[in-house]
Amino acid sequence: MFEHLQAYGGDPIFRLNEAFHADPRDRKVNLTIGLYYDEQGRLPLLDVARRAEEQWAAKGQPRGYLPIEGLASYRSAVQKLVFGADSKVLQEGRVATIQTLGGSGALKVGGDFLHEAYPNSEMWISDPAWDNHHSIFRGSGIPTHTYRYYDPATRGLDFTGLMEDISVLPEYSIVLLHPCCHNPTGADLSDEQWLQLIPVLQQRKLIPFLDMAYQGFGRSLDEDAFAVRAMVDAGLTFLLANSFSKNFSYYSERCGGLSVVCKSADEADRVLGQLKAVVRRIYSNPPSHGGQAIASVLSDESLLAEWAADVETMRQRIAAMRKHVHDRLKELAPQYDSSYFVKQQGMFCYTGLTKEQIQKLRDDFGVYVLESGRISVPGLNQSNVDYFAESLAAVVA
Ligand code: LMR
Repeated sequence: MFEHLQAYGGDPIFRLNEAFHADPRDRKVNLTIGLYYDEQGRLPLLDVARRAEEQWAAKGQPRGYLPIEGLASYRSAVQKLVFGADSKVLQEGRVATIQTLGGSGALKVGGDFLHEAYPNSEMWISDPAWDNHHSIFRGSGIPTHTYRYYDPATRGLDFTGLMEDISVLPEYSIVLLHPCCHNPTGADLSDEQWLQLIPVLQQRKLIPFLDMAYQGFGRSLDEDAFAVRAMVDAGLTFLLANSFSKNFSYYSERCGGLSVVCKSADEADRVLGQLKAVVRRIYSNPPSHGGQAIASVLSDESLLAEWAADVETMRQRIAAMRKHVHDRLKELAPQYDSSYFVKQQGMFCYTGLTKEQIQKLRDDFGVYVLESGRISVPGLNQSNVDYFAESLAAVVA
């Protein structure tokens, strides 16, 4: 029956992560998948999350279905986190928010929704991109293309290229943007650049779809949402996917959100209905466990402050590892420009290493970097960061 099917080549990120775990060498460093590891190389379960889970478990609640759109307290907590607690757009009831299966689930529901609302619209995604962006939206039936984003010469943003490409898109094109911590490059637009881009999106009647999977890992929870809030201030209609996988360390709980900012409360109501229709036909309704914990943490002032402090600790550790590599490389390979380690921000660093250098890192040093040259910085800690810098210095020499 299925003889005609081809073998799945595997996902480039998950496949490499598995190859790392299968590597029998003692000395090896995993910089593949975007997971936040602590200083001991462990995946944290945040204490604030553990306590919230225990409290909920102690209540022995029955496990009825959640509403299709998810838990009301969770959706409201998501809105306050991403738009700001005092956001005008929330007071006006102009945002339709649903609980989703992680950030990827939000992209999928958003993709299906947009393809129905604008069947002729195509999507533009940064070059380079998180590979799965193309797969998810093509899976929704939306043709995808790329806009210029990254300049290999500076290992930074090609803002001129981005503006040139976006300014000529057909009306109602969908533009996928990362408000912070761009995956895979770590190169973000500055606040001023967002303020230049937003009028172009508006004048050309484009549909921005923001993917915010790393809120809090760049500058702070609030500052990382600058683009979101600037779009609200400018009166744009847009979609926003957010995720708690990284900043709540809740990867397998699949907790995310999809918000659509609308022109009026009435429009938001109809959009919410359509989002529910999409969810109902894909997975019917979301699970409750992780969402309950997040809702109880985010809706309690002191627990929220505790979680925000945890996120800040993660952010600072990532920044410290970036600086450590940069400083060590200055000593070990002074001719090599390692400034990109500190100029890029968030979980990922885009090294620009060649295929041969990446292979050599893996074969000779057990250092696993994605084939694109992306490294996930939190795989570094005090016990392996010097080894990594030395390995990198050896391959770039
Ligand atoms: C990554 O880019 O490594 C993460 O977003 C994990 C994933 O699902 O690919």
